[in-house]
Amino acid sequence: MVNCVGQMLEKIVDGLESGKELAKDELAALLLSDDLAGTDYLKKRARYVADCIYGKDIYIRGLIEFTSYCRNNCFYCGIRCGNQNAQRYRLSKEQIMTCCEYGYTLGFRTFVLQGGEDAYYTEEKICSIVYGIKSRFQDCAVTLSIGEKSRENYQAYYHAGADRYLLRHETANQEHYERLHPKELRLENRKKCLYDLKEIGYQVGAGFMVGSPFQTLDTIYEDLQFIRELEPHMVGIGPFIPHKDTPFAGTRAGTLEMTLRLLSIIRLMNPRVLLPATTALGTIHPMGRELGIEAGANVVMPNLSPVDVRKKYQLYDNKLCTGDEAAESLHNLKKRMADIGYRIVIDRGDFRRE
Ligand code: 5AD
Repeated sequence: MVNCVGQMLEKIVDGLESGKELAKDELAALLLSDDLAGTDYLKKRARYVADCIYGKDIYIRGLIEFTSYCRNNCFYCGIRCGNQNAQRYRLSKEQIMTCCEYGYTLGFRTFVLQGGEDAYYTEEKICSIVYGIKSRFQDCAVTLSIGEKSRENYQAYYHAGADRYLLRHETANQEHYERLHPKELRLENRKKCLYDLKEIGYQVGAGFMVGSPFQTLDTIYEDLQFIRELEPHMVGIGPFIPHKDTPFAGTRAGTLEMTLRLLSIIRLMNPRVLLPATTALGTIHPMGRELGIEAGANVVMPNLSPVDVRKKYQLYDNKLCTGDEAAESLHNLKKRMADIGYRIVIDRGDFRRE
């Protein structure tokens, strides 16, 4: 017998795929439905769309978490400045270069420099690191993920050679933003940063956590609207996972299923987007990575930080940093991707305009 609920989801998915804007009740149907055939259809169509643009290629990024110092006190984050238990470290330019050397031999052609908002790394220092990497590895892309800076800073990093910038918007809803961040942090400024970055010429990544405290269907709807408006080249989404030394200790984590459905929706809304199956997704489920790829993701970001600092970059409890999460286990990751029919490629993995 034909399943009408399933057919309803199929209709919504077909609409999304043809570029139709998603209505709020349609989003609700996609996210809340327990119709497995329908949600399976959602994931399959999203994967099909990703295949049409990126084929079976999976891009890798070497993630270098170069500072765990942060001036901000975001309620969800384990490296918030108020966390006295967090272990702090900084990597020198030489240490960062060594990570890149090693990463290059493994096949990485994108290095992501991520860190807290740490004033120790002045504009000059960041530019020197970026320039150092770009001169040594001319066939590589450098992505920065170091938070909110001035337009002049962003311009200078770009001039030094930075290609991409990741700055999750975290939530596009004002009240929700205020419930996740201390009052010094303004959604308006975050959005402005993203638009500045885009105007300067970066490939830009926005994104949010799935299942963060106080998130609702309405806030997610606004996230999707914001993404539609910004048209980022990358979208980073992963489940929220509580950290024991934050105000959100003891709250519930986001779910695998909700994250997968949102990955699919974002892929369908923005077929060319670079979409990582994030570390957080790998942390909440042993097959999170694979399931993310199968739901439309096309990027993975193994950890390339020096082994002795990895445990200190604890954004949330039990964050993976070893095993197949680690760059040195790339052969395992390759095998895992091959097992589901995908191949990790040696490529910068740029956004494909056409
Ligand atoms: N759970 C999941 N993701 C988190 N991030 C920060 N804290 C957490 C957490 N507790 C994410 C934020 C940030 C990115 C670097 O890590 O979305 O932008």
